[in-house]
Formats: sequence, structure tokens, C-alpha cells
Amino acid sequence: MATIGVLYATRHGHAGKIAERIAHQLREGGHDVRVVRCPVLFPPKLDVASLDAVVLGGSMYLRHHPPELGRFIRRHRKELEARPTAFFSVSLSAASTNATLRDSVRRLVDARFARTGWKPARTALFGGELAYTRYPLPLRLVMRAIAWRGGGPTDTSRDHVLTDWQAVAAFADEVGVLAAERTGGRRAA
Ligand SMILES: Cc1cc2nc3c(=O)[nH]c(=O)nc-3n(C[C@H](O)[C@H](O)[C@H](O)COP(=O)(O)O)c2cc1C
Repeated sequence: MATIGVLYATRHGHAGKIAERIAHQLREGGHDVRVVRCPVLFPPKLDVASLDAVVLGGSMYLRHHPPELGRFIRRHRKELEARPTAFFSVSLSAASTNATLRDSVRRLVDARFARTGWKPARTALFGGELAYTRYPLPLRLVMRAIAWRGGGPTDTSRDHVLTDWQAVAAFADEVGVLAAERTGGRRAA
């Protein structure tokens, strides 16, 4: 059994749902998992040195992941480099039918790693949520226009989850394998 931390940054909550789904899958695999939200202003309560593997993730806003995630990566780069790590990005573009938009997320994520110097063993790009009912009207209209351009859903009377949950589970399984390799393949009974 490995001890794995899942740290996420979010604004509207969907990255947290993905983090919990990853944690659920890892627990099914017999691992001990801690899910922690990265606060905007304060350092998160996550002791990286005590973990066998770490998953970081965050949603994309205006082509950037939340800055608190970058601060955490810079502060803990050495500890992150010393163990298996993985990163997941949550965005609308990742679920777009437009290949150029999908490629643009990959480039943004690669640029993030280039800036921090941290290279996770696995990265995944997941579609996020269009939370139309929770956006104020002006934002709802802007998001509908953006979604329309990317071939996404435009019915603003409800929210739309664009996440491929099977891909999330598969990503978690990969992390589980990496973590188990580090602990010598020990698993819970
Ligand atoms: C104001 C705003 C800006 C956004 N900017 C981007 C963006 O630049 N690229 C993108 O692909 N998705 C963008 N999105 C979509 C979010 O990444 C998506 O809704 C995600 O699920 C939000 O995650 P969260 O609920 O964890 O905050 C944006 C959403 C909002 C509301």
C-alpha cells in the first residue's frame, strides 16, 4: 500500500470532484489517499515528504492554472522530484471537438512545467464543467459563446459535465502503479 496525496486547485469545484474520483479509484486499489484543496492564499496542509506519490491538479482560467498551484510546485519542487508525481488539468478546451483548441491546452500545460522546472511522470487533460446555472448572467453569455466556438453545449438552462470519467479512473490506475512500484509493490490486504 502506498500513501498518496491528491492536491487540487479550483474555482467552481469541478477539479475537486475529479480529485475525489481519483482518490476513490486509488483507494479501491488499496492505497491510503489524502485529498487536499490548495487554498488561494495559504499553503495547503500537505506534508509532501510523508507521501509515496503526489497528484496535483487544477482547472484552467483564462489560459492559466490557479497561481496557488504554481506556488506550491515551486516551494516543493525538490520533494516532488524525489517521488512519483502526476498532474491533471481541467478545462473546456480539453473536451473540445476542435483539435487546435485541444492542442493549445497541451502547449499551455507544457509551458507551465517549463516555467517551474517540474516534470510529472504522468499528465492528463480532462474536460471540465460548464456550470451555466452558477455563473452570473454576463459570464453565462460569454461562456456560451466560448462553448459554441469549441463545439460545446450551449443550453444554459442546466450545467454540463464534459469529463470522461473512465479516463480519470485510468489515470488514477496509472498513478497507483507508479506509487506501488515505489513502495515495492506492497498492497493492502
Ligand atoms: C471565467 C472562466 C474562464 C475560463 N477560462 C478557460 C480557458 O482559458 N481555457 C479553457 O479551456 N477553459 C476555461 N474555462 C473553463 C474551466 O476550466 C472549466 O469550467 C472548469 O471545469 C472549471 O473548473 P473548476 O470548477 O474546478 O473551477 C474557464 C471558465 C470560466 C468560468
